[in-house]
Amino acid sequence: MQNCPPVIVLDKNKNSREIIKSYLEQLGFIKSIMLYENYSQGFEEIKSLDGNAIVILDISEKSKDVEEVAENLKLFTSKIIITSTNYSTNTIVRALRLGAKEFLPKPVLREDLARVVTMLASQTEEDSGSESKIITVYSNKGGIGKTTIAANLAVELTKVTKDKVALIDLNLQLGDISTFLNLKPSFDVNYVIQRLLNKEEDILIKGFEKYKNTSLYVLSDPSYIEQAESITPQQISALFSALKKIFPYIIVDMSSNIDPNTLKILDCSDWILFTTIVNIPAIRNCQRCLNLFRSRRYPKDKVKIVVNRYMDNEEIKIEDIENALSEKVYWKVPNNYFTIMEAINKGVSISEINASSNIANNFRDFASKVSDDIIEQSVIKYRI
Ligand SMILES: Nc1ncnc2c1ncn2[C@@H]1O[C@H](COP(=O)(O)OP(=O)(O)OP(=O)(O)O)[C@@H](O)[C@H]1O
Ligand SMILES: [Mg+2]
Repeated sequence: MQNCPPVIVLDKNKNSREIIKSYLEQLGFIKSIMLYENYSQGFEEIKSLDGNAIVILDISEKSKDVEEVAENLKLFTSKIIITSTNYSTNTIVRALRLGAKEFLPKPVLREDLARVVTMLASQTEEDSGSESKIITVYSNKGGIGKTTIAANLAVELTKVTKDKVALIDLNLQLGDISTFLNLKPSFDVNYVIQRLLNKEEDILIKGFEKYKNTSLYVLSDPSYIEQAESITPQQISALFSALKKIFPYIIVDMSSNIDPNTLKILDCSDWILFTTIVNIPAIRNCQRCLNLFRSRRYPKDKVKIVVNRYMDNEEIKIEDIENALSEKVYWKVPNNYFTIMEAINKGVSISEINASSNIANNFRDFASKVSDDIIEQSVIKYRI
């Protein structure tokens, strides 16, 4: 195999480091193997390699330096294998949350290590993007809270996951993500799509505006309506494929229209956070749209119902909504008009207005649930 990236082993146990080294040498295609007992030193080496390293990280010990490196590693490489002497479900979930492409219980078996290292060594960026998730916030009714949910969920996901999150405004004619987050983007969706048409994928990320000092990257709607009209479903599909190579989470805000672009966005999404409020007309609209989703044969669990502006004393109860829609409600976002309006008017996330408000807590928990459920889907493969 040509061009195998260097392999860096971070392990406190000398014996284990040596065994892993000998297994790696037996593979015959790895030119550089570096072993570290000191995690901070190893981490400096990984950073200097600019994302081009396979890292085998042992998390058996719970010391401060192990924790620190483990928490930040995925910002510097996507090719992570985690090992541990403890292989409880909690440890596996933690490993996946830390960005592990694979968890290997200790003592590590030669065949397992060979399989995973060979897979990561030959993995192109495109393959690694297959684990990326497109989460679209949709409602077939306007003004329901799509932009509020997309923007705040995206901000909280960066904190919970410490991953790169993209927030894409595909409300092509009336997008307002950049207003909600007070961004003055130099580029937009149209710019990125034009770069893709010219096969200039490497400068694609330039089209994004970073939100403050976070790992949230925002792609705004086109500046002119004519540009929005010229975007086709094929271009949207190409945009998603390119974004999946870069971002583990892609949150999409969009319009309520049902047109070919909308259908393409919904078809391409891994999850649809299908949002409603608690009133009869909104729920009737939901029923119609769910029929559309059913006719498109979306996989089970792709469509998740989110109830926005929920109040405990509501006349229509959650069970009533579930009965009417024949679907479980996935999440409820409470009604809190004043905090949300202050956030929108100041162009910041809700947590920056009042981090202890019911709505800020709710978005934090919402992001944790989304991240947990995505990890849960990956953990299933470890269950015997
Ligand atoms: N949980 C909530 N509690 C109180 N007010 C809310 C809540 N969510 C949204 N709102 C209010 O509803 C209004 C519409 O929200 P938002 O712009 O997010 O909806 P939208 O579905 O994106 O609308 P559009 O279809 O126009 O894009 C906003 O003014 C916002 O303040
Ligand atoms: Mg909106």
